Amino acid sequence: MKILIINGPNINMIGVREPEIYGNKTYLELCGFLKDKAKDLELDVDIFQSNYEGDIIEKIQQAYNFYDGIIINAAAYTHTSIAILDALKAVNIDTVEVHLSDIAKREDFRKTSYISSYATKVFAGEGFDSYLRALEYFSNKLNSPEK
Ligand code: DQA
Repeated sequence: MKILIINGPNINMIGVREPEIYGNKTYLELCGFLKDKAKDLELDVDIFQSNYEGDIIEKIQQAYNFYDGIIINAAAYTHTSIAILDALKAVNIDTVEVHLSDIAKREDFRKTSYISSYATKVFAGEGFDSYLRALEYFSNKLNSPEK
């Protein structure tokens, strides 16, 4: 099962940015964590990060007919981007939304997620484990009899 993991703006700055919210581990460590966990779960993952909305949209479009699942942390674009939502709807690939922090318990402007209206599942507030929950969702799907 081929899974595309997309990280939006400033996720490459974790470990440096607001460690009290996002922790001390770096983006490189996140990528290593994701590759290790994906291997354990027998999932084939590609990881993409961009600070540009259009690049994220193009990556989602290119995923059409290629990936079986998308895990997306659209970061601040979560709360603003109808264009990313539309791209996800266009390719119609099973999508799980993830966040390191618990966006429901932060500022009011983070409480709206355009992506949540489309995503099959949302995992937030568990740090790196939010992504692990998403990988486990796809692994369960892969191994479920009604697949
Ligand atoms: C985030 C939460 C967003 O509100 C924020 O803009 C981010 C990261 C998270 O993973 O907790 O950049 O998506």
